[in-house]
Amino acid sequence: MKSSVWHPNTQMKEWDSFDKITKGKGMWLIDSKGNKLLDGVGSMWCNVWGHSNPQLVKAINHQSKKLQHSSMFNLTNEPAEQLAEKLVKISPGMHKVFYSDNGSSAMEIAIKMALQYWKNIGEKKKTEIATLENGYHGDTFGAMSVGYVPEFFGKFKKQLFPTIQFPVPNKYRMPKGLTLTDHQNNCLEKIEKRFSKNNNIATFIMESGAQVAGGVIIYPKGFQKKISQLCKKYDVLFVLDEIATGFGRLGDMIQYEEQKSIPDIVAYGKMLTGGYLTMATTLASKKIYDSFSGEFNDWKHLFHGHTYTGNPIASAVANENLKMYQKNNLIKKIQITSKIFEQFYDKISDIGIVGDIRHKGMLMGIELVKNKQKKIPISPKKSINKIFFEEGKKNGIYLRTLGNIVMIVPPLAISESELELLLNRTITTIKNAKSKVI
Ligand SMILES: Cc1ncc(COP(=O)(O)O)c(C=O)c1O
Repeated sequence: MKSSVWHPNTQMKEWDSFDKITKGKGMWLIDSKGNKLLDGVGSMWCNVWGHSNPQLVKAINHQSKKLQHSSMFNLTNEPAEQLAEKLVKISPGMHKVFYSDNGSSAMEIAIKMALQYWKNIGEKKKTEIATLENGYHGDTFGAMSVGYVPEFFGKFKKQLFPTIQFPVPNKYRMPKGLTLTDHQNNCLEKIEKRFSKNNNIATFIMESGAQVAGGVIIYPKGFQKKISQLCKKYDVLFVLDEIATGFGRLGDMIQYEEQKSIPDIVAYGKMLTGGYLTMATTLASKKIYDSFSGEFNDWKHLFHGHTYTGNPIASAVANENLKMYQKNNLIKKIQITSKIFEQFYDKISDIGIVGDIRHKGMLMGIELVKNKQKKIPISPKKSINKIFFEEGKKNGIYLRTLGNIVMIVPPLAISESELELLLNRTITTIKNAKSKVI
């Protein structure tokens, strides 16, 4: 291969070359040969308004002419100040915003804030971290430790720090003979039993609303709320990751509001800049923030900072993005558009290799199995992703699967007709790929 690029999460030997995307227009990506692909994964789950949106491009240009970057070390800048104020306003219970440039870093910061909080208040015992099995919080070492997915991170297991993991109620793969309510209660009981046994747990860290990379596991009603209540009862800091699920992806602006579970710390990313520039944030409550306050020699301040922290251009485009959410009433629009998914449930389920479909808001996971009764995942020799990517391309859509799960994660502002097109083409793609995966 001529290219010098090493691609993410990719067996490079499988690929002779990669299509070069030269343009983006609305919901479509256009390659160097002029082929058009409907963006079925929102360019890795972050795109909101489609590509080359004039208002967002204007905000970037406007800010670039004034100030492209200036550090947050000893200084500040207007777009970052404005953005922080807006984020605090829309995030109940949150008080301050710490900037970073990707979701994994935002989660590293959340972990550091939560662990240091206990040190800051002089509590030495609270050092353990609790998480959910199958969670995903990014690819850096702290994020891998708290979001351990064995297939992804097994090779680094020895170097990861230990966490206490609790099971997640998964409606499709429940222990035999249990109802979903029993299953959920069992998971919650395990958490309470551990919390009540020993008060050394510093924090409970979980994705908000659903586990996305772990296979689109949408939490049953009340699950997240109950965990937040247990955290309060047993004095465990509650940390939420809304990087993939907030900002409308699951149908609400702030997912923890919908789940009635106010955290101590929350991370946002992906959709924050509409999918235009790289930026993430970690928000902390007043309780957390105040614990970091002291004399310089108390060494209570947060030792964390990135070169591009609070970048003015990224902040400016995020400000414009948030303005557009309000002006266009995007959350309401998502709630209406997302009903289109429901019209496709039966058509998708009827396909022989579809075991389960899971959907909330603008997120759908279609789980593919060899055998519907036994629920055995498909496991072809070639990567499932490559098979579906190539089949999708033939149908003019851009897909990236997660193992045996076809992910539909379109730009949030996709029109009803384009979403219908995407779903119809996904159905054709699954049907055409069927013989190649079983
Ligand atoms: C829930 C969640 N947290 C964190 C991350 C990591 O974000 P990033 O890829 O920007 O590092 C992701 C990425 O997919 C995610 O889904």
